[in-house]
Amino acid sequence: MTQDEQKRAVAREAIKHVVNDAWIGVGSGSTANLFIDELAKIKGRIKGAVASSVKTADRLKTHGIYVEDLNNVDDVPVYIDGADEVTEHGAMIKGGGGALTREKIVAAVARKFVCIVDQSKLVDVLGNFPLPVEVIPLARSYVARELVKLGGHPAWRMGFTTDNGNVVLDVSGLSIVDPVALESTINQIAGVITVGLFARRGADIILLGTDAGVRVIDPRKR
Ligand code: A5P
Repeated sequence: MTQDEQKRAVAREAIKHVVNDAWIGVGSGSTANLFIDELAKIKGRIKGAVASSVKTADRLKTHGIYVEDLNNVDDVPVYIDGADEVTEHGAMIKGGGGALTREKIVAAVARKFVCIVDQSKLVDVLGNFPLPVEVIPLARSYVARELVKLGGHPAWRMGFTTDNGNVVLDVSGLSIVDPVALESTINQIAGVITVGLFARRGADIILLGTDAGVRVIDPRKR
C-alpha cells in the first residue's frame, strides 16, 4: 500500500470507534482530513463534532457535519487524530500542522484518543521529527534560549501564526527518551503555550497503516 492508501485505510478503520449519538473530537492534518471524508458518510449517527483547528472546522462544515464549540460540550467519548511520530507506548509528537494547542485541549477532554497513522510515523524513540512548541510571540527568543539549554536546536517557523495568534518553534536535535518528563519541563518555560509532546495524555489506541493492512496497537499492553 502507498502512504496515502495506508492513511485512507486507518481513516476508514477509525469509523468503528465513533460512538453513536455522541460528540466526536476531530484532529487536524492529512490523515484527519481523510477521516472527515469517512465521517461524512455516517454523519446522521453522531450529534456533531468538535474541531481541533479552524481548517478542520471548515472541512467538517463543508461536509455538512455540525461543529459545536468545545465549551458547550461536556463529554467527548472519542478523539481521532494523526501524529507526526508515535511510539508503541502511545507517546506522540504532534503539531507539524501547527494545531497542537487545540489538539491537546480536545484530547484532554476526550475519554479515548485514537491515533491514526501510516507506517512511517511509528518510531522507537521520539525526536527525529522536529518538536513543535507554540510560544507567545514576545517570548520567542527567551524560549528558544531555554530550549537550547535542553540540548535542542529551535527554528522559528517563519511566516506562520497559529489559530491562537502565536508563533511556533520547531526543535530538532532532541532524542526524547523520557517524553513525560520533557513534556513537563518544556511546559514550565514561561511563554510556552503548548509543547507538541503528547505523552502525559498519549494515544489509547493506535491504528497503524501497513502493507499488510491496518495493525491495531494497544499501548497499555506494551
Ligand atoms: C497537526 O498539527 C498535527 O498534529 C497532525 O496531527 C500531524 O501533523 C499529522 O499530520 P498528517 O496526518 O498530515 O501526517
